[in-house]
Amino acid sequence: MKIVVLGAGYVGLTTSACLADLGHDVTCCDIDGDRIAALERAEVPIYEPGLSELISKQIALGRLQFTTHATKAAGGAEAVFLAVGTPSDASGDIDLSYVEAAAKTIAPYMQSRAVLVIKSTVVAGTARRIQALVDASRERRDIAVASNPEFLREGSALKDFMQADRIVIGADEPGSEAVLREIYAPLLMRGVPLVATQTVNAELIKYAANALLALRIGFINDVANLCEKLGGDVAAVADGIGRDQRIGPAFLSAGPGFGGSCFPKDTRAFASTGRRHGAPQPLIEALIEQNELRKQMLAERIIDSAPRSGRVAILGTSFKANTDDVREAAALTIVPMLVEAGLDIHLHDPQPNSAKRLLSGVQWHESALGAAKGADVAVVLTEWDEYRTLDLAKLCDAMEGRALLDFRNIIDRERAAAAGLSYQGLGRSALPLQPAKRGYGTSVMARVAASPA
Ligand code: NAD
Ligand code: UGA
Repeated sequence: MKIVVLGAGYVGLTTSACLADLGHDVTCCDIDGDRIAALERAEVPIYEPGLSELISKQIALGRLQFTTHATKAAGGAEAVFLAVGTPSDASGDIDLSYVEAAAKTIAPYMQSRAVLVIKSTVVAGTARRIQALVDASRERRDIAVASNPEFLREGSALKDFMQADRIVIGADEPGSEAVLREIYAPLLMRGVPLVATQTVNAELIKYAANALLALRIGFINDVANLCEKLGGDVAAVADGIGRDQRIGPAFLSAGPGFGGSCFPKDTRAFASTGRRHGAPQPLIEALIEQNELRKQMLAERIIDSAPRSGRVAILGTSFKANTDDVREAAALTIVPMLVEAGLDIHLHDPQPNSAKRLLSGVQWHESALGAAKGADVAVVLTEWDEYRTLDLAKLCDAMEGRALLDFRNIIDRERAAAAGLSYQGLGRSALPLQPAKRGYGTSVMARVAASPA
């Protein structure tokens, strides 16, 4: 099928490359001429594992093209996907101007009976509003607007697209649902479940899913705080509760607060939609505040651990591992607070390009050990694999001080203690453990028993 995708960001590029891989003839368009020029040379402007290779392959196979001339491309397409940004506006509501502008621009050029598919994350009711905009631009209603929210995660985008837990199609009339079923037929035949519903439900599914996932993170972060007071271990608690099949183990890792381009903005939009429609979302309102306070609380923890004007190494600035994305990353709150407190900040991230543009008053290093050289405190802020396997003896040797704050709980504290570091994770005891002779579970139980009630 001939498909046009508007937006060559994380979602637009993944969608374009994967739909081409499923055999469709895809043209991906963006208004950013430099981005398109780079993509035409198969240079992918974002870091997403496997994406560059897939794009090169699909270009070579002739199934994927890039252009800035969306209106020209749209003429022959049976479906046009909108994958443009939907950032937060100043009030926390969602800014739909990119979606509206793209729809208005493209609608007059689409062929009759084509489907305009909203893949961007949009508040409930948007597809119906866009339908009205599209109808106004045509002589008769011959284009349907459908909703097809995207659930991929950055860092595992290709797998999430190709092996999705489900595909959600929101359609208010059968024709557009049929087109989307045909587009996704190769995945449906492989057993990916389909949820076909009305556009308003599809839009709500997307927001409710992100809000619930974010709530789990907020909850486990609060449990981590309690563990610290009681001498517990949040990983052991998460393991124990996650084994209940009704709960499951995913999204129960304590961390420095959720970041990224989606959870923060989507929780704000969900709360704001609730307020606007007289159906407040108090859980989500509290979560948003808790998540912001957590980043500030952890910045203060670093400041308290460092000597005045001390040197701090921050390992990881991306909002999570395997991406270069720093949108609403914990680092963007924490690092400026440390600079403001007069600390000397040294940073490392394996994919630092976006962060370099946003963080000032800091020094960047090519390696984690380079950043840690002479540091009083080292902080693991992103769970990159290379930090999991850090040579802790070398880290300890490189540092001036001994404090290692692990805000992702990815470093074995016994190994850290054996290397001479003073380890502090999240939601676990600040004290370095004695080299283990007993099993892990036993030592956790012993500390819980020994801690004050
Ligand atoms: P992004 O900012 O990386 O990319 C958006 C792109 O759209 C930009 O390159 C921009 O130049 C382009 N654009 C803007 N207006 C355009 C127009 N009229 N025509 C063509 N291109 C235009 O955004 P993203 O991270 O890919 O997110 C896109 C949407 O998908 C958002 O609504 C987001 O919430 C949602 N989403 C994102 C993710 C994710 O992991 N990033 C996952 C699921 C859903
Ligand atoms: C998230 C959702 O997981 C996707 O399903 C969704 O499509 C996407 O948002 C979106 O709507 O854009 P993403 O933001 O790429 O994907 O990354 P996640 O893996 O969900 O992580 C989000 C944040 O939560 C990160 O800062 C991560 O470090 C944090 N997190 C995640 C935790 O602190 N603990 C966890 O257990 C999981």
